[in-house]
Amino acid sequence: MSTPLPGFEDFKDFEGPASAKGPGRPGVSGGRGGSDGLGGAVVSSESGGRHSPETDQSPARHDGWREIAPGAVHVPGWLTMAQQRELVAACRGWARGPAPIRHTKLPRGGVMSVQTVCIGWHWQPYAYTRTADDVNGARVPEFPWWMVELGRRALVEAYQDTAAGDGYTPDTALINFYDDQAKLGMHQDKEERSGAPVVSLSIGDTCVFRFGNTETRTKPYTDIELASGDLFVFGGPSRFAYHGVPKVRPGTGDPASGLAGGRLNITMRVTGLDR
Ligand code: SIN
Ligand code: MN
Repeated sequence: MSTPLPGFEDFKDFEGPASAKGPGRPGVSGGRGGSDGLGGAVVSSESGGRHSPETDQSPARHDGWREIAPGAVHVPGWLTMAQQRELVAACRGWARGPAPIRHTKLPRGGVMSVQTVCIGWHWQPYAYTRTADDVNGARVPEFPWWMVELGRRALVEAYQDTAAGDGYTPDTALINFYDDQAKLGMHQDKEERSGAPVVSLSIGDTCVFRFGNTETRTKPYTDIELASGDLFVFGGPSRFAYHGVPKVRPGTGDPASGLAGGRLNITMRVTGLDR
């Protein structure tokens, strides 16, 4: 695509350096959830009823925590605004290269409306490689350890289990940028040779996220709204469920995230592939 799309220019040309340490622990300030000062979110009276603080060491549950299907959990407002800004800055760095963000070409001649850049492993339909062979052949950046840790904390939060992140070592992330018109059709994430969960983080404009079933790209499915800072995890029986993004709601994001327009989504995965 030679013509920059609205939002993309802003996304790609940001000059801020990516943080070396990466975003810190979610829940320590801001966002839609509160903090208990220990890195856990404060549990509201509506959502916290099931835990006894003296006997139960389960992570506190964020407001709005919701299981959409078995193993598929939505945690609204998980990332603080500061963490969103750090993620946006890191993603802008990766979007510049060594293999720049691009509209992925599909084998039958189509082009995806979403723009994607990868870290750890490069995904192109329908395989992972270490080099971005459909872009410029460059090796993709290392998957940073801070993002592994963020992924582990995401699983603890989503599954409300302090051990849920143990041993989780995502080694790739697809970073998708959606302008106002971009959509993503119903698909499965199935190039990975691992059943480990997918951790999805959203920043910027709200989208309609369609989460379906493992058998068909059609109904039954559930439409939810993923807003800036939201976490969505799909694993277990839902790991290979069809999902997609039928609509982005332009102008719904807060520029304080570092994204003036559009939607950024990061999905961490375990490829199950060797070094
Ligand atoms: C994806 O399915 O890979 C991305 C999902 C999203 O943008 O929320
Ligand atoms: Mn997907």
